[in-house]
Parts: sequence; structure tokens; C-alpha cells
Amino acid sequence: MPIRVAVAGAAGRMGQTVCRAVETAPDLRLTGRADPALDTPLSQVLPDADVLVDFTIPTSAVANAHAAVTAGVHVVIGTTGFDPAQLEDATGANIFIAPNFAIGAVLMMEFAVQAARHMAKAEIIELHHDRKVDAPSGTAARTAALMSEASGQPVPVHSVRLPGLVAHQEVILGDVGQTLTIRHDSTDRESFMPGVLLAIRKVQSLTESPTVGLEKLLVSP
Ligand SMILES: NC(=O)c1ccc[n+]([C@@H]2O[C@H](COP(=O)([O-])OP(=O)(O)OC[C@H]3O[C@@H](n4cnc5c(N)ncnc54)[C@H](O)[C@@H]3O)[C@@H](O)[C@H]2O)c1
Repeated sequence: MPIRVAVAGAAGRMGQTVCRAVETAPDLRLTGRADPALDTPLSQVLPDADVLVDFTIPTSAVANAHAAVTAGVHVVIGTTGFDPAQLEDATGANIFIAPNFAIGAVLMMEFAVQAARHMAKAEIIELHHDRKVDAPSGTAARTAALMSEASGQPVPVHSVRLPGLVAHQEVILGDVGQTLTIRHDSTDRESFMPGVLLAIRKVQSLTESPTVGLEKLLVSP
């Protein structure tokens, strides 16, 4: 049986890309597109869904996730700019959250954490398109938190918002007489789709909810 998938934020940039990706996956079936811009409330799409994918806005994502798990629908959240702790009490189904679904960004975070243990100081520059509503980005906030945990040092984040950009991040580490730069660029929203589809397939079998971070779903080759 295909997994039945509804998308919240279906009229948005990410939502439209997710709908197309779900429609082309043979083991998934797109059963609903919720978005105020489509005059379709979430309550209309939940009854036909096994999994809800949410790419909306921070204030909606938390309410949408609570409504979905209450209805027994698992949730995959890509929306950024909210505190995942707000979903710790949500029961009834599983919640998976990733601030970045691109495999390259996950690797960037891993390499940055590794480097933070060895170099004196680090700062992050994140660059996004000018219609992004939150700053710093969820990816930068998570990278900084993981690096601070590893190094015991604060990691400042600088945000750039310009037309022409999609999603980019540079982690710059400095020490005596040297710097190391780790950079990731998403030049197309397709870069997020393999990660989103993986999360849709795995969210039902999570043993911990909410689970945060795509790295938790990846198996090393
Ligand atoms: N995790 C990732 O890998 C990743 C990648 C890119 C973007 N994002 C995040 O995804 C989110 C969406 O980004 P976007 O560029 O598609 O934004 P967007 O503005 O293009 O789309 C958001 C859509 O959500 C809709 N919406 C608002 N409230 C809603 C609700 N209650 N129910 C259903 N739909 C609702 C809006 O009408 C709009 O169509 C942002 O938070 C962004 O930071 C995450």
C-alpha cells in the first residue's frame, strides 16, 4: 500500500516542489494540498493522510503538527524558525523535524562540528533568498548550537538576504596563521527532496518523537 501524504503549505515554493516529488514516487500517494492560498484547511486533508509534510511558517507549523498527531497522522516538518521543544508534549503519532533536508548540508554540519573541536574560533555566514521570513536560518542555528556544544565556545551567526540566492552557508574557522572554510550551496529546491522523501518513508517507524535532524535517518555506507 502506498503511503498517503498530505502537504501543508502546498502553494508555497517548497510545498509545490514536495507535491511534485511525492507524485513521482511510486510508493507514495499525494492525497491532499492544504494552504490558505488554495482555500484548503488542514482539517480537510488530515482524514486521508498517513503522513503530513509541513513547509509553512513558524507560527503555523506547531499548530499544524499538534492537529496532525491528535488525528493520528505522522508529521515531517521542514518549516524553520520555531523551537522544537514546543512539540515535546505532542502524542498520538510521530514527528520528524529537519532544519535542512539536503544531504550536503548535513555533511557540512558534521564536518563543522568535527573542526570546531580542533580550531580556536568559528563564525557562520548564512545566505538566503530575500523572501525568507526567519533569521538566522534553522540550519545556521542548529550548526552553531552543535559546534558550541562540541567546542564550548559561542559561534556567532551572520545573515544575508538577497534576491538570486536560494540557501547557502559558510562556516569559517580560525586559528593561529590559518583559516578553514566549509561551504554548502543549495542552488535548487530539488536538493531537499531525497531527504524529504526519506523522512516520509521513515517517520512512521521512529522510536523517539520528536526526532530532530536528517542525520538521525541516514545509515552510513
Ligand atoms: N528544512 C529544509 O530543508 C528547508 C528548505 C527550504 C525551506 N525551508 C523552510 O520551509 C518553510 C517554507 O518555505 P517556502 O520558501 O516554501 O515559503 P513560502 O512562503 O513559499 O510558502 C509557505 C506557504 O505556507 C502557506 N501557509 C501559511 N500558513 C499555513 C497553514 N496554517 N497551513 C497551510 N499552509 C500555510 C502559505 O500560504 C504559503 O503558500 C520556511 O520556514 C523555510 O525556512 C526548509
